[in-house]
Amino acid sequence: MKIRSIYILILCCLLNMKSYAQIKSKDGSILAPTPPMGWMTWNYFADNINEQNIMEIADAMLSSGLLNAGYNYIFIDDGWQGGRDNRNNIIADPKKFPSGIIALAEYVHRKGLKLGIYSDAALLTCSGYTASLGFEEQDAKTFASWGIDYLKYDYCSAPDDLETAKIRYKTMNDALRNSGRAIAFGICEWGGRKPWLWAAQTGGQLWRTTNDVRDKWKRRGVEEGGEGILDIVDINASLDQYAGPGHWNDMDMLVVGLNGKKGPSGDLGGTGCTNIEYQSQMSLWSIMASPLAATNDLRKMDEETKRILLNKEVIAINQDVLGKQAVRKVNDENWTILLKPLQNGDYALAILNRTETSQIRVCDFSSLGLNGIYQIRDLWQHQVVGKDKKWKGSVDAHETKLFRLIKIN
Ligand code: GLA
Repeated sequence: MKIRSIYILILCCLLNMKSYAQIKSKDGSILAPTPPMGWMTWNYFADNINEQNIMEIADAMLSSGLLNAGYNYIFIDDGWQGGRDNRNNIIADPKKFPSGIIALAEYVHRKGLKLGIYSDAALLTCSGYTASLGFEEQDAKTFASWGIDYLKYDYCSAPDDLETAKIRYKTMNDALRNSGRAIAFGICEWGGRKPWLWAAQTGGQLWRTTNDVRDKWKRRGVEEGGEGILDIVDINASLDQYAGPGHWNDMDMLVVGLNGKKGPSGDLGGTGCTNIEYQSQMSLWSIMASPLAATNDLRKMDEETKRILLNKEVIAINQDVLGKQAVRKVNDENWTILLKPLQNGDYALAILNRTETSQIRVCDFSSLGLNGIYQIRDLWQHQVVGKDKKWKGSVDAHETKLFRLIKIN
């Protein structure tokens, strides 16, 4: 009897492990083996989207080098919906998408991009458009027939309790898995129900860990609301154990290059960041293995924005196939230090100055558990800046130094 119970327990564990991170596409590869990268419509266009501006962005993803750097998704966010037809099929707004989503998907696929779409686990989305509750099977099949590769599934207008959230997300996941197409599943309930504890089991490849990002460094007082870059870092940094290939903590969109442009990220104090802060966001999202979804107007990018978004050495840290989220090693009033092991035995090291002035920092690698001598490569300067057991240098206010440490002996 005892042996039988143990056998059942092991079987349950194995089955559970299978549902955890092992959603496979037709060719047998898992979905989202590295954090998805792309561009999301929301924070620049809000719901003023249409096929013309999305095709222009698709063109810009190629001409700017973003696709070549790994950003291969266009994620259509809220505002594409035009209700349901007389058979209850969800349809795109015919004014915004006169050629239809199939034509748009073909356009982006021809360019080597993938297409994401958005819905919500209730009757209405966050911006009041038609959502999928009760129509999960039908909508998943519609998305599959359109050639959709990714679904962001929001949670506005849905009940607060955890059990309902789990059921609603699992229902849509099962519908996607039954749709005949490998559609990655992004869970977006903003972290309130600790999705890192259950979202992978309900089929998600990623889950938002916080409320919506705003175009600001940090919240100025609780009453302001909205998450700045530092607010999100502080929530996400303790969740490293939950991330891995096929299941990622999603820190929300990169606000890099928005430069205080209005749009949703401009609310709640989102008046813009400095380029040092945008560069920090890119470093911190990368070392924490977050999905990287730009949301600025790619058709008009200044050189600084391109330099930040297109840094291939930084992107390589994010896309490292070992799939570890950095561990937070130091966290005090002045400093946050994060360390991420990489597939080839190197480490990525981020040193963030949280204060309002430039500071000198000594970082002894042995205090991080790294013994020996390391070659220290600065991934923003693109050069080796030392061979040592430690790094010492000046870090500007809100700056994040990002290094690759390569063991010498
Ligand atoms: C929520 C999400 C955002 C965006 C909007 C769209 O706020 O968290 O990322 O999708 O809805 O309405």
